[in-house]
Amino acid sequence: MFKTIEYNDGIVRMIDQTRLPCETIYIECKTGPEVAEAIRKMVVRGAPAIGVAAAMGVSIAAQAIDTEDPLFFFKELEKQCDILASSRPTAVNLFWAIERMKRTGESVANGSVKKIKERLKEEAHRIYQEDIETNKTMGRHGQELIRDGATVMTHCNAGALATAGYGTALGVIRAAVEAGKKIRVYANETRPFLQGARLTAWELKEDNIPVKLITDNMAGYFMRKREIDLIIVGADRIAANGDVANKIGTYSLAVLAKEHGIPFYVAAPISTLDLNLESGEQIPIEERSREEVTHIGGKRFAPEDIEVAHPAFDMTPNALIHAIITEKGVIRSPFIENLKKAKLS
Ligand code: MRU
Repeated sequence: MFKTIEYNDGIVRMIDQTRLPCETIYIECKTGPEVAEAIRKMVVRGAPAIGVAAAMGVSIAAQAIDTEDPLFFFKELEKQCDILASSRPTAVNLFWAIERMKRTGESVANGSVKKIKERLKEEAHRIYQEDIETNKTMGRHGQELIRDGATVMTHCNAGALATAGYGTALGVIRAAVEAGKKIRVYANETRPFLQGARLTAWELKEDNIPVKLITDNMAGYFMRKREIDLIIVGADRIAANGDVANKIGTYSLAVLAKEHGIPFYVAAPISTLDLNLESGEQIPIEERSREEVTHIGGKRFAPEDIEVAHPAFDMTPNALIHAIITEKGVIRSPFIENLKKAKLS
């Protein structure tokens, strides 16, 4: 099995997700800004993976700060954290991981800089390990919602590539397969950046999980034909009321699912929950470059200078969501109460 990301000997090594599935290339980041750039360019993407990468980025940035003075150290670290935090705006895991790293550093602030650096390195490794374990636990809870023989539709890539390993939505599918169930997957290609076609289709194929790739506009056709039993997607940020920001196109799928009476599930770790935001309306939606809309594989297929819009995410209101699968269990409505309980437990 491929490794999405790893951190050894002061180097963060990640599979270049912009090159998959045609080439399996790994890139190495040796500084915090290099990690930030890899996140911005989507070499590493997917909310939990972005969080893990950022934690590793904070750690390598910390190791490079050449001082014995803790005050100066924290001032410099703050600058590095700001660079990492500006890489992408929607996935809250990025900010969650940076905050956790800062708190970890501050918890040993009265020790030597050497000691602070050691703790930060340890914490980055811990965040990585925890993410894999969280996904496996989420998978165990979520797989109970899937019957043997079911066909699951998914959107974007919420798999091992989007996490430290195993995946959230794809982790639930993996856990169902590991429990001996025969599962088939419909993967939406996920325009404009094609994470479904390039990453989910590749990842599931590598794992020998039967997968059919469709274009996004085929989803309703297959729902109407009763070929889809349930939908599972990941999340980039979940507001306190259970509204979910996820890859653009998720909202349309949820509306279609409601029309066809198909259960719509979101799988995400508790770290994706942002209790500071009352509703999904407050979630910042990233606008990405026009080229992702006008070009595929570097080739333009739209008129030059055409006006484009490119929101990379959309928001699915909680009323369209059957349940949110987390490592703390399967959370249902009333979301405000139950999400808060899960976060604080
Ligand atoms: O723009 P991306 O590829 O980072 O978007 C990824 C998604 O929308 C995923 O569904 C989400 O991050 C959950 S990943 C487990």
